[in-house]
Amino acid sequence: MIKFISDQNLFQMETENYSYTIEVFKEKYLRQIFWGKKIEKILSANKYEYWDGMSFCIDEGPSEEIYTESLDLEFGQQGSGDFRTPSVEIYNESGNPYPILEYSGFEIIKGKPEIPGMPSTREVDNDNLDTLILTLKDPKKEIFVDILYSVYHDYDVMTRSMSVKNCSNKKIDIEQIMSFTLDLPAECDNEELELLSLEGSWARERHIETKPLRKGKTTISSNRGTSSHTLHPFCALTPASTTEHRGNVWSFSLIYSGNFVLELEKTHTDKIRVSGGINPNTFKWLLDPKETFYTPESVLVYSENGLNGMSNIYHRFFRDRLLPPVFANKERPVLINNWESTYFDFDHDKIVRIAQKAKEVGIELCVLDDGWFGTRNDDTGGLGNWEVNYKKLTKGLEGLAEDINKEGMAFGLWVEPEMVNSDAVILKEHPDWIMGSYKEKPAVGRNQYVLDLVNPDVVSWLTDLFTEIFTMTNLTYVKWDMNRYLTGQFSEYLPAHRKKETSHRYVLGLYKLMEALVTSFPKILFEGCSGGGGRMDPGLLYYMPQYWTSDNTDAMARLKIQYGTSLIYPLITMGSHVSACPNHQLGRSTPMETRLNVAMSGNLGFELDLNLTLDNEIELVKKSIEFYKENRALIQLGEFYRLLSPFNGQVTSWMFINKDKSEFIVFWVLDKAEVTYSQKVLKLPYVSEDMQYKTSEGVLFTGGELKYRGLKLPYMNKDYMSGYFHFIAE
Ligand code: GLA
Repeated sequence: MIKFISDQNLFQMETENYSYTIEVFKEKYLRQIFWGKKIEKILSANKYEYWDGMSFCIDEGPSEEIYTESLDLEFGQQGSGDFRTPSVEIYNESGNPYPILEYSGFEIIKGKPEIPGMPSTREVDNDNLDTLILTLKDPKKEIFVDILYSVYHDYDVMTRSMSVKNCSNKKIDIEQIMSFTLDLPAECDNEELELLSLEGSWARERHIETKPLRKGKTTISSNRGTSSHTLHPFCALTPASTTEHRGNVWSFSLIYSGNFVLELEKTHTDKIRVSGGINPNTFKWLLDPKETFYTPESVLVYSENGLNGMSNIYHRFFRDRLLPPVFANKERPVLINNWESTYFDFDHDKIVRIAQKAKEVGIELCVLDDGWFGTRNDDTGGLGNWEVNYKKLTKGLEGLAEDINKEGMAFGLWVEPEMVNSDAVILKEHPDWIMGSYKEKPAVGRNQYVLDLVNPDVVSWLTDLFTEIFTMTNLTYVKWDMNRYLTGQFSEYLPAHRKKETSHRYVLGLYKLMEALVTSFPKILFEGCSGGGGRMDPGLLYYMPQYWTSDNTDAMARLKIQYGTSLIYPLITMGSHVSACPNHQLGRSTPMETRLNVAMSGNLGFELDLNLTLDNEIELVKKSIEFYKENRALIQLGEFYRLLSPFNGQVTSWMFINKDKSEFIVFWVLDKAEVTYSQKVLKLPYVSEDMQYKTSEGVLFTGGELKYRGLKLPYMNKDYMSGYFHFIAE
């Protein structure tokens, strides 16, 4: 709900539990007043301004002096004496910055406008959703900036974005434009706010990192052309006392898959300016007269219920309002993928044998990974030449799909549309279709080049090509891979003065391609991948409802990766597979039970040839798949809570619970065993005190007992052991 309180010039935005308040200050500037627990009324918004000796006035006259740097703003701009990170930097044709933009009006509309060419959170009929549009303009009315706040009342979520319209008759230069800006106090209840972010690398994605914020700027960003494995377009501010279960969290995420920035600037006034959007280091946009530029959307989530409270909001919201609606609440098949069991070395019969054994244990979908086309026998060639390799697949893709379907399994396929190797036939005709300067040998990554998706001809060629490939067989699943970052981030297609538009235009080209293909094939379940989870971000999840979380399939390493990923992404978006031991990435051997328990906590899959698995393990696999299928709705669509963190101790634990709290499963995994005389006791704050629960072994507990006394975990005397408890209300 959005209210304008005219006598105070306040915009009050309310979700079910939270408030976000802005003031139009001196009829010109947008002040941040409050973001937190719901407050019905704010009466003191325009009282008590601080004075700062070295600040600048934005209005003349002693009684009118307002010191810009002491103001908490929603929109920052250089030139006003606000030296913090600006929301926009826009220059006119003579290279001069635009004068200060002033507030010029508002509109409150039902629902939410789409962001042209970009993914954004969805609106469903009868959503309790309103949008506030605040407009700013320069004195000559040449440029208009809209700041959009969409309030999803029932989800406790607000999204923000901006747009700039060029109303002059000259081109303007946008050098920076954030999706959101706001100033927050640097303390909460006398505790300084710390920064929580997700950092990683290939095969070690989204590890949780917390650190104090010092004065000055802290930046989380990517300039790799994708959101990347290394830093993630998400961060949160919390006092150190916030835990998984309680405390305040303010968090920010971006629906964007390219070069991004999230910046936290702690000022001498003990405020934090938080801003986020497209990374200005690799961006500049020349906006033609009458054109509008739109930023990606950002998602702002506050919770007073700790990190689990925050994650719960993201999970529900992203599942219901970000993922493609057809798959949002649809249970996912158990799959087997041949990558780690064969790599490039397979043929028709080998894949069919893998599928037959998989079918025996209850697996539902067989995915053929890389190596089925062109001369793709290793990673030095073949990308771009997408004709079936009949030497390997003697009956072609159609024949293989048919044989797999005959076994009673669905068929899925790996592709990497955005890439080519140097032997790609298309490059003979169009050498300039790769990113960077093709004349000067652009850098290769995994021996491959990135196709220039800035060029609309490349996007239409790929659309037609993959439409044909996806129509060839009876496909129900596609794994869309992308195995390198973008180095030469300029496009031969663009004129010299537009080269810095390349990175953003690449992302727009990618979204166009994905939009076309997912729309043409609404029944195909797309799983995104980028050397594992290198581009697992909300932008991609808008098109592809699940993602290959990491190339690291070691169960212990996966604990941290999945734990960190679960901070914002619902478990139904995470591909997690059981692989062979010793593990291919780390050489570690972990019990089959643990590999299953960890993989079962996402979209369960297998990445090994079960023909080579011991009989007693096969029995376990069968039983686990049975258990998983019986409880798939609870795991994939229920609520998820983290209980013990792999970043803080030897035991990791998490749980899935249904909406009415009548059923839940608690998983635990031990890292290193140690002789200990104390037994780990796990309190379960998320169960209902009004219920009584029974485990599958027949042990009874009251909800209160589990909540306050806790659940005693078994004696843990073996490295990497694990287990679960399944509780049902009596
Ligand atoms: C990437 C993916 C893997 C696999 C290979 C195939 O590394 O992350 O899962 O598909 O490519 O080349």
